[in-house]
Order: sequence, then structure tokens, then C-alpha cells
Amino acid sequence: MAVNIKKIDEIIARYEKSEESLLAILQDFQREFRYVPEEGMKRLSEVLNVSESKIYAMGTFYKALSLEPRGKHTIKICMGTACHLKGAGQIIETLERGLNVERNHTTKDKKFTIESVNCVGACAMAPVVVVDEDYFGHTRPSKVTDIINKYN
Ligand code: FES
Repeated sequence: MAVNIKKIDEIIARYEKSEESLLAILQDFQREFRYVPEEGMKRLSEVLNVSESKIYAMGTFYKALSLEPRGKHTIKICMGTACHLKGAGQIIETLERGLNVERNHTTKDKKFTIESVNCVGACAMAPVVVVDEDYFGHTRPSKVTDIINKYN
């Protein structure tokens, strides 16, 4: 969803105008826009009378919040010990090359965000790649293109 001030104001209007609403509003921004837009943080700062730096700090502290636009799909590459030992490093490099984006960033066409993450709890299937909610186990660099193509 494109960012617009009207939508930002609609979200803010759902909550009490108090600092305690801050996190809930940021989470709603994240759900609506798939990230926390700068315009939203500015507006919040004015309406709730909280400094922008405080809002920014909260945005960077909570892992579920992203201050950068997110892709339509999130590709998580597990870099936990089991996956690392089974070649997760090569998988993430193949993805970075194939999608022309660095880890923890989003492709220019906003289709994919790639993230390196800690153990996703499926070590028996290492190395593991998770796209949105779908787990792909025993992944190889040669399988990466097939995985991406499912979401293209
Ligand atoms: S280390 Fe990758 S799933 Fe556990």
C-alpha cells in the first residue's frame, strides 16, 4: 500500500493521543505499509508530542518494525550453526547475486526483502530458507532460482 498522509492520520485516529499508543500505532503502520514510513514518524511526533528521535529509537529497537520499505515477499536465510555448517553462506550469496540486493535489504522492484536470521527451529532440514511462511529445507545454491520463481 502506498504511503499517504490520509491513511497515516486514519491509523493515528484509532488511538488515544498519548505516548502509550506509540508502539501500537507503529505496528499498525508496519501492517498497513509493510514498514514504518518517515512521514508517519513525523506525524506521530507532532500529534503525540513525542520527539522524533524517541520514535526512531523505538522503530529501530523492535525487530518486527522496519524503517525501510519491505518487499512483497520476505526471504529469510537461516544462519544458525546447523545451517551455517551446511552451506547457508553460499545460499545467501547466491540470492544476493541473483536478486541484485544485499542481505537485510529490499530489491528495487520491491518484490523481495532478504534477511539473514538466527535458527528458525528446523535444524534437521538444514540449510533452511523461509519465504513468507513457507519452509524450504535441504536447500542448495542450485535450488535458489526455483524457489524464487515460485513467488515471481
Ligand atoms: S540452524 Fe538453521 S534451522 Fe536451526
